[in-house]
This record gives sequence, structure tokens and C-alpha cells, in this order.
Amino acid sequence: MTAQSVILPLPSDHARFIVLRLKNLSLEALKDKLEELFTTRDRLITQHPHAQIKTGVAFGPELWTKLSEAPQGFSQLEPIQGSFTMPVVPADVLIHIASARSDICFALSQAFFEGIQDQVEVLDERVCFRNFDGRDLTGFIDGTENPQFKDDRAETALLGEDAGIFEDGSFVFAQRYAHDLDKWKKLKVDTQEQVMGRTKLESIELDDDVKPDNAHVARTVVEDEDGEELEILRHSLPYGDGRGDQGLFFIAYTKDLTRIDQMLVRMFGTSGDGIHDRLLHFVTALDGAYYFAPSEELLEEVL
Ligand code: HEM
Repeated sequence: MTAQSVILPLPSDHARFIVLRLKNLSLEALKDKLEELFTTRDRLITQHPHAQIKTGVAFGPELWTKLSEAPQGFSQLEPIQGSFTMPVVPADVLIHIASARSDICFALSQAFFEGIQDQVEVLDERVCFRNFDGRDLTGFIDGTENPQFKDDRAETALLGEDAGIFEDGSFVFAQRYAHDLDKWKKLKVDTQEQVMGRTKLESIELDDDVKPDNAHVARTVVEDEDGEELEILRHSLPYGDGRGDQGLFFIAYTKDLTRIDQMLVRMFGTSGDGIHDRLLHFVTALDGAYYFAPSEELLEEVL
């Protein structure tokens, strides 16, 4: 089977994320609108073959059970109340649109919403961009330790043959963060590097003897019982206006949501070792939810 097109390729320069609840929109009407979105996407791909047009559509656990049975290990994210609060805002549908061109992301959003604007509750429509050489707005390169090659990306993100009809589907975690860049900029660069656990210019990991236990990369590296690192496939991108509403739309694809669960309890300070991620003093999680992005074939079948 085939993963949805946005998952495996490296990110393009522009993305739009649409997070919504159905409100008055019927399931049938949602299916029609998604079909329309794909028709527009395919037409634009033909007209603009170099625009790297890709999409991913994922469903929250509640809506997904109305479309099909649930893959093993799929349930809603749990909120965390630790050193920091991690909210959960469940949604029905997450649409991930990516392209080398922002006008194309816009056109696809327009195609999807046409005629249903009043029937859905839009929790978020985020316009995101690649910032310089793939840097988060903190100035640090985001994605260095992401699996880079297609096989590794597939191995990390996609459900395997043993998942039956869910093969080549992927679980998704999306969470918007707001950055307090004024507070962040008051830190000297070497302190910022201690917060992230990597150098700012070249994204070189700090040596274990100088990397603090509460550095972001120290909190987000999780391992299995054999000491093997449990990776996820991140596609996060910055968003913002010039005045200060700025941050990161965090999104990761994974074959196993317990990896994300583990990272989040380690970040927010409820993993039991009394440590939380120091990065959370500078960024705030505003929402968060789990989704399932079925393979192209299963998506076509449920639609
Ligand atoms: C505002 C929020 C966040 C920012 C600015 C951020 C930024 C970064 C940066 C700069 C790196 C180092 C470079 C790299 O390997 O990509 C990194 C690594 C990483 N982050 Fe985040 N991140 C954020 C939230 C999260 C969340 C919520 C998770 C997981 C649930 C996460 C998981 C990871 C992982 C797994 C790594 C790689 C660790 C390694 O293997 O060394 N991050 N992040």
C-alpha cells in the first residue's frame, strides 16, 4: 500500500495545517469535500509539476471509528499536569498541505472550504514556512536528528504489514506552540545551547558531560529496553506575524504513539525523575491531539 504523499518526502518550503471539528457537516459532505480537495490537488500537480504538492488527511479517534475500525494503539492523547500544563484539544480532521509555493497551499485550502465554511468549526488554520536553513524561530535547526532517508522515514512513521488494512498508515501528533521570543532572546547563546542540547550555528549535539539533563534533546530521546532509540518523523514548521504571535506548529508521524507519550511526559515533567524540559520556560503548548492518517488505498476506500 502507499503512504499519503506528505509523509515520506522531506518538507517543502510552505505548509498549511487545517484542524477542524465537523459541527453541522455530515460525514457524507466531508467525504465529498475531501474528494474535491484531491481533485483540485491532482489538477494543480498536472499544471505545476515542480511545485512539490503533497497532502495528508488524518482523523481523530472519535471520527475515525465512524469510518472504519481502529488500528491497535489508537486513542486520544491524555492531557498532562506536571511542571507545565499540556492541554489536549481533540479534533475530527487534520489536513496537512505542503508545497514549494504558498499560493498553492492557499488554493487547496480554498478548494476544501468552499461551500462548507459555516458548517465546520475551524480550530486552527496555520500558515507555516521554512525559516532560513530549517530553523525554528529560536534560531536552532529543527530536524537534524529526523530520519533522512526514505526507508528510515518509512520504518519510523508507517505501520507495517502486520497491521493488516492499516499498513502504510501513520499515527499523527499535532500541537501548536507559542514562543516567548523576548524572553528567549535575553539568554546568551551558550545558555540557549544548554536549553536545546545542541549548538546553535551548526546543530552539533553537546557532549554528554556538558549536556544538561533538562535539555530538550535529553528529554526527547527515548529508548527501548535494548537501548535502541525510538524515533519519530517530525514535519514541524514555524508560523507567525512580525509583531509577536509566533511559534511552531509541531507535527510528527509515527507508527507507535507510545513513543510520543513517553516524550511528552519527559518534557512536561511527569515521567517520575523530577525533571522537565527547560525549553518549556520559553514555549507554551496551546493545544494538542492524536490522529490517524490511513494509507492512500484505505483513505480511498473509506471515502
Ligand atoms: C516549541 C516546541 C519545540 C521546539 C522549538 C523544538 C525544537 C527542537 C530542536 C531545535 C531540536 C534539535 C534538532 C533536531 O534534532 O531536530 C529538536 C529535537 C527533537 N525534538 Fe523537539 N522541539 C519542540 C517540541 C518537541 C515535541 C513536542 C517533541 C515530541 C513530542 C519533540 C521531539 C523531538 C525529538 C524526538 C528530537 C530529536 C532528539 C534527538 O534524537 O536528538 N520536540 N527539537
